[in-house]
Parts: sequence; C-alpha cells; structure tokens
Amino acid sequence: LSSRFLVIKLGGSAITVKGKPLTPRLPIIKKVAEDLVKLYQEGFKFIVVHGGGSYGHPIASKYSLHKGFFHVGQLRGFSETELAMRDINHILASSFYDAGLPVVPMHPSCMVVACKGELTDFYVRPVKLALGLGLIPLLHGDVTMDVKWGFSVISGDQLASFLAISLKADKLIFGMDVKGLFDRDPRSHPEAKLLRRVNVKELNLIDLRVSEGIYDVTGGMRAKLKEALKVASSGIPVYLGSILEKGMVIKMAKGIPGDYTVILP
Ligand code: IPE
Repeated sequence: LSSRFLVIKLGGSAITVKGKPLTPRLPIIKKVAEDLVKLYQEGFKFIVVHGGGSYGHPIASKYSLHKGFFHVGQLRGFSETELAMRDINHILASSFYDAGLPVVPMHPSCMVVACKGELTDFYVRPVKLALGLGLIPLLHGDVTMDVKWGFSVISGDQLASFLAISLKADKLIFGMDVKGLFDRDPRSHPEAKLLRRVNVKELNLIDLRVSEGIYDVTGGMRAKLKEALKVASSGIPVYLGSILEKGMVIKMAKGIPGDYTVILP
C-alpha cells in the first residue's frame, strides 16, 4: 500500500449526541467528510472505522450484549444493535459519498469472530483489496459471534488497532470529542495539561485515572489506550485528537503541530 496509509477511528461520542439515542451530529460528520476528501485528493489511502455512540451503546447495554449470550431475550437486542449500527454507518457512508468519496461500507459482524470479547479472527482481505483499488472501507464497532460467549461486542478501537497492525498502517488516528490525553482529568482539574508527545515507556508509567462511563459497553478510554499501546508498541504512531474542530483530521494525518496527542513507539 502507499507510504501514506492511515487507519482512522471516529469515536461515537464525536459523531453522535451522547445521551440522546439515535442522534447523529451531522455538522461534525460533514466536517470530517470534507477533511477526508482533501486527504484523498492528496493521495492518502485510509480505512475509516467508527464507533457506536448513542446508536450502539444504549441498546447493547440494555440487553447486556457485552456479557455474552445468556438469555434468549437478548437475541432481538442483538438484531436491534446490528440494525442501529448499520443506520449510523449508512449516515456516515452517505455523507462521505455526497462529499465525493468512493466509500464502501463493511460490516464486521460478517468478517470477524471473537473469543471472550477479544477479536481473534478477522477476514481482512476485502478491506485490503478494496483499499488497493482506491475505495475507502468504512467499518464500525459491532456485535459479533464469539466462540466462547456466543456473541460479544467488538469496539471500533479494537478493529482499528487490528487493521493498523495487520495491514501495516503508517499511523492510527483516534478522532475523539476531547483534545487528547491529559496528565490528569481535565474536567475536575482546570490546570490539566495536554500530553502532546508521549512514548510507550512513558505512557506505561503514567497512572491513567481516566473516566469510565457506565454508558460505554466497550471499556471507554482505558480500553482505547490499551489498543493504542498495542499499536504504538508495534512501531506505528498513534494520534489522538478532537474532530469537533474542522481540519484536525488533516493536521493529524500530516503531522502538522496542533492540540493533539501523539503516542510514539
Ligand atoms: C461500539 O463501538 C459498538 C457497539 C456498541 C455495538 P465503539 O466502542 O467503538 O463505540 P464508541 O466509539 O465508544 O462510541
């Protein structure tokens, strides 16, 4: 693939209204689409993975899908979650398409098998071949089959990290609704400092007291950092930044200095 090959994860909290079920943030989605068009025109290749936000988490949580299969009543919840994820996926795909991108929606429930909530098998060939053609694969956090638990919920972060490592991306970008990693919780500490550059060793030493929302069935910021560390340890830089502001995806893609965090190997 190209030397400018990115995996970009769009966080559910950035692309949907948290706490308001099934509500997309269309202006944010449009801004991201415009950034992606610029990158595409400049020859970047990328895979986009998005999260569930208020489409995925509330339903998955209502039916405890992240705990695996234990009751037949969960099956309709499984369907409902899958359908909701396809809805938000379609909203993003339409917006990307309207902006001029050759986007191709791909649904991980058809390509992935998990074991105890961990992504183990991922048939990535369609993603790789589509990229080679110049298409933009658009995947999402999803409910998937699980060999031990029956089913489980696989986060967009896990999918993005797997893809970045197995397809040897040049960088992994986490687009979020916060600026990046702080040295303490910025909501309770106004003096909290944004960590602009950290390496794996430094990050392992930091006591990350990150917030854990009950709303998030896939583990929130802590789980995201676990994936980020995996990817950075494999030699791929990981960028974490806010996509609420236009131009941030471009900044991170090109490494232009700005208010975001880079985790270096
Ligand atoms: C969650 O994906 C998918 C479902 C709940 C089905 P993510 O865990 O990647 O979603 P966000 O980014 O945290 O919202």
